[in-house]
Amino acid sequence: MIEAKHISKFFSIVNDDRTAEGFYALQSVSLSIAAGKIVSLLGPSGCGKSTFLEILGGLQAPSEGEVYINGVKVLEPLPSSRREMEIYRRKYRFLSPLVNGIFRNRPKHDIAMILQDYAVFPWMTALQNVTFTLKLRGIPRHEREAVAIRHLNRVGLGASLNKYPSQLSGGMRQRLALARALSVGPRIILMDEPFAAVDALTRERLQEDLLELLQSSGITIVLVTHDVEEAVYLSDEILVFSPSPGTVRNHLTIDIPRPRRRSDPELVRLQERILKLFQYDSEHASDYSI
Ligand SMILES: Nc1ncnc2c1ncn2[C@@H]1O[C@H](COP(=O)(O)OP(=O)(O)O)[C@@H](O)[C@H]1O
Ligand SMILES: [Mg+2]
Repeated sequence: MIEAKHISKFFSIVNDDRTAEGFYALQSVSLSIAAGKIVSLLGPSGCGKSTFLEILGGLQAPSEGEVYINGVKVLEPLPSSRREMEIYRRKYRFLSPLVNGIFRNRPKHDIAMILQDYAVFPWMTALQNVTFTLKLRGIPRHEREAVAIRHLNRVGLGASLNKYPSQLSGGMRQRLALARALSVGPRIILMDEPFAAVDALTRERLQEDLLELLQSSGITIVLVTHDVEEAVYLSDEILVFSPSPGTVRNHLTIDIPRPRRRSDPELVRLQERILKLFQYDSEHASDYSI
């Protein structure tokens, strides 16, 4: 169970003339995600989806609010006064929130993350990408290779173990990222637009692969996407974000059983409904791109 309570994120920017200004990229986002669900965070570019996902994973601290995973706090807002700082220091004996997020909380919560563009290390082979991740998670050396090969086989990369990412197609690279995420046996996978960079046919294939790999695994998926069709096809629930500042505008539940048909009239109707929400938002906001 993932619970986000009143998450806000304020970014300050320093202009060229050294004046400072700031804005809320997220404002009071609250949600809860039950274990084993596929939940999409859907919205146009710039509405704070990636920021929110990183806060869920503990890679960024929120400005306000808290995230709990199975009742355990992920990261709390950074201290804003000297007094708060003292309390914070005493509570967390570490150097930076980033280090805390990666080394303290993530293994504890069994989270794996697939980021959009740099999901795999280009200087490592497919096999090395997975074994390295296993090393970071403390899997003993003699087990790493077998575990890695098993997961690479699972995603259909058994014949490409020694290839570098540049020698793989976009779809294969995403499968590698998926194998790497699955190899650590996570309970939660956070994915940031994982299929955005591949062509439409490959995307559909990867979506099928994802569903197949997840079947009865109990893994919770939080998927950031700006692709309405993808969100509707894959998700149990969709949280529609709206921009400036980013908030959850609608929370939709999709009860249609799997396997689903992409052309299912109910799914198509839902897509149209969401697109109308986007349209409404864009007419009421400036500087908007999807
Ligand atoms: N580190 C940062 N400093 C300042 N502004 C940022 C930073 N990260 C993101 N932003 C801004 O916050 C807003 C939300 O960004 P992001 O979460 O990446 O949106 P999305 O993933 O929905 O496209 C954008 O306007 C973006 O420019
Ligand atoms: Mg993003």
